[in-house]
Order: sequence, then structure tokens, then C-alpha cells
Amino acid sequence: MSKLLAWVDDRFPATKVWEEHLAKYYAPKNFNFWYYFGGLAVLVLVIQILTGIFLTIHYKPDSELAFASVEYIMRDVPWGWLMRYLHSTGGSAFFIIVYLHMFRAMLYGSHRNPRELIWLIGCIIYVALMAEAFMGYLLPWGNMSYWGAQVIISLFSAIPGIGEGLALWIRGDFVVSDATLNRFFAFHVVLIPLILIGLVFVHIVALHKVGSNNPDGIEIKKVKDKNGIPVDGIPFHPYYTVKDIMGAVFFLMVFFLILFSIVIFFMPEFFGIFLEKDNFTPANPLQTPEDIVPLWYFTPYYSILRANTVSFFWIDAKVWGVIFMGLAIVMFFLLPWLDRSPAKSIRYRGVQYKVWLTLFVISFVLLGYLGVKNPDHVDLFLFKNVIWAQIMTIIYFLFFLLMPFYSKADKTKPVPERVSFK
Ligand code: HEM
Repeated sequence: MSKLLAWVDDRFPATKVWEEHLAKYYAPKNFNFWYYFGGLAVLVLVIQILTGIFLTIHYKPDSELAFASVEYIMRDVPWGWLMRYLHSTGGSAFFIIVYLHMFRAMLYGSHRNPRELIWLIGCIIYVALMAEAFMGYLLPWGNMSYWGAQVIISLFSAIPGIGEGLALWIRGDFVVSDATLNRFFAFHVVLIPLILIGLVFVHIVALHKVGSNNPDGIEIKKVKDKNGIPVDGIPFHPYYTVKDIMGAVFFLMVFFLILFSIVIFFMPEFFGIFLEKDNFTPANPLQTPEDIVPLWYFTPYYSILRANTVSFFWIDAKVWGVIFMGLAIVMFFLLPWLDRSPAKSIRYRGVQYKVWLTLFVISFVLLGYLGVKNPDHVDLFLFKNVIWAQIMTIIYFLFFLLMPFYSKADKTKPVPERVSFK
């Protein structure tokens, strides 16, 4: 074996990569629960690709055949139903994990210097993931697939001047049609997965260049022993490979055996949240579903889109909605430069950041809830849904826009030199 390894090493840096990125890669010894989600996101990406390959074998990207080919997968292909439900439920799992992964960064200041690039690459991954999910949803060619795509693509036509042409270019037709389905298939199955894999690779390369942050928000590289090894670091392998395998097994158990088997075996549409009821009827360009709502992971932005009801500065309300929706995502990209607190981790930050972060989470969750509700109904209390959406949109933006002020003014606790570890 050692001769074989030496032969490989002369031709490929196998041992060097193993040591630099695993056996001699020193990660902070105080990682906690929140540090599972990056590894789990990789796991779910692999699951999506594998189940997606099986679906692609039997799926037909043709507007005449697509809906029936999905029914064929569900009824006639052995285990086809399982592959499909793993893939559709996996999409929701992906977003749950990525949202928790992003929240961890906001808890411990992982987006801050020197990890801005890791965060920015993460934000691009997030946008790519949204594009991937959006295009995948058209493929079953159900009525919600059809009208969802129609609504979202027509948003581009709100852009002054070039909008109409752009929407036509994206659809490849004047309405969502076979041409749209074909290109969405190519993007969903080939282009965006390639981009995602590439981005995840550079995300981790960037992480290994600067090293991981940790729940204390301290740079472990600042305190090294006489051999140049961080005193608060432990080799990623075997310590964190074991921890991550444990996390992965636990995730697979909880999600596949308990939660997911309940979802996948008994309620795959999960109250219309994971698969909407309108998608069990084929696309019908002549019949709009009663309420066109996107899947749950898009609903916070959908609420922001619908929250703007007034035209100002000669710009139409609908266009403002699109602008605010775009800005809501742009805010994440700016985060490393908006945060000016002397402490990175929430453990040493003052009360102001804690309050704002809580308000932000509440606004995000409520916007998500309101996104599936009719704006003119009263589902919470006192006000119509649209008013609540406006209040929550304001809180959402204030969290980001006021951050340079409250993060600086906040009374932080002294940050220790070494990580705390029990
Ligand atoms: C397909 C999606 C993604 C995958 C597979 C992925 C993977 C990973 C992995 C394996 C790590 C190291 C382990 C860990 O810290 O948990 C990591 C760290 C990180 N990720 Fe992601 N990630 C994804 C999406 C994102 C997104 C959307 C963001 C933010 C917008 C993001 C921001 C970060 C940051 C800031 C770190 C450094 C954390 C620290 O050192 O404390 N990632 N990611």
C-alpha cells in the first residue's frame, strides 16, 4: 500500500491534500451544534444530485409528456415514487439547512473579516439555489408550476425599457411554453448543478485559506504553540470527521426514518407546503389557480414583493415591489460591511444586536407566513395581511440599514484571548 501511495504521490498530491485539508488542518476545538449544517448541506446536495439522476432517466422535458412522465415515475417506475419524494422533500430540507447555516454565521460573526469572501460565495450559492429550485418546480408541468413561472418571469417585464424583451428572452416565447420547459430542464439538470458544485468547492477552499470561525468569534491562529500549531485547534481528522459523520447519521435517522418517513410515506405534500395541491393537475394556460403562491422558502421575498402598494417617484408600485425584493437579497451581500461591532460572536455582543437579530428572525418568519396568505384577509390580528407584511418589511430592512449604528453603539463584553471550552 505504501508503495502504491508513493507512486500516486509522485504523480498527484494525494497525501499533501489529505494532510493540508484534513489530518493537519486545525479547526477550533469548540465547534457546537450550529457547525453541523455546512457538512449537512454537502450531504443534501449529494442526495439531490443522486435522486435527480434517477428522475432524469424517466422524465420527459416536453410540454405534452412532462406531467404524464412524472405520473409514470410515481406509479410504474420501481421506487420512482420514493426518488421523487426524496427529491421534492430534499429541496425543502436543503433550504432549512441553508437558512440555519446562514443564521449560524449571523450568530457568531462568521461573515466578518477575514471571512467576507466565504460569506459572499455563500450568498451567490444561495441565489443559485433559489434559481435551481425555481426552475425545478416548472418541470412537473403542474398548474402551479406553470403559473408560478408565469408570475415570476413576468416580474422581469417590470424593469423599465428592457423588461419586456428580457422576459421574452427568458421564456423563449410570449407565454411559458415548451421552449421554456426545455431550457429550464437544461439549466436545472446541467448548468446550475455544475455552478453549485463549483461554488461549494471555492466556498470550502476560501474557508481553508483563512480557517474556521467558532462560537467565541476568536481567531485561533493568533495563539500558536512553538510548532506553529494553534493551541485552541484540533486536527479536523479524526475529530471533526467523526463529529460530522455522527451528525450525518443523526440527520439521516431523524429526517429519513422519523420526520421524512412521515413526510415521504404519509404526507409528501405536507399540507400543501412541500407540494402544492394545484400541482396535481396538469398545466392549463387558460385556468389560473385561485392563489398563486411559491413554495415556502420563497414566501418571505414574495411577501416583500406584494407589500409595496403605492407608486412614488413616478415609479409603479409593482416595480417598487420588484426593487425591494431584489434589495432584500442584496442586503445579505452587504452584511460584512454593515456590521461594525468590536465583538464577532453574539456571546460578547450587547443587547441591541440580540434584540435586532430576534426582530429580524421574527420578520423573516412572519413574512414567510404572510406570503402564502391572501393580502386582503385578516389572518393575524387587527390588520389585513398586507399591513403586517409592510410592517415586517420595514423591520427586515431596518435590521440591515441601522446595523452600522446599533452594532457600533452596542455595549459589548470583553472578548477573551482563548476559546471557551467545557
Ligand atoms: C450548498 C450550500 C452550502 C454548502 C454545501 C456549504 C458548505 C459549507 C461547509 C462544509 C462549511 C464548513 C463547515 C461549517 O462551518 O459548517 C461552510 C462554512 C461557511 N459557510 Fe457555507 N455552505 C453552503 C451555503 C452557504 C450560504 C448560503 C452561506 C451564506 C450566505 C454560507 C456561509 C458560510 C460561512 C460564513 C462559513 C464559515 C463559517 C465559520 O467558519 O464559522 N454558506 N459552508
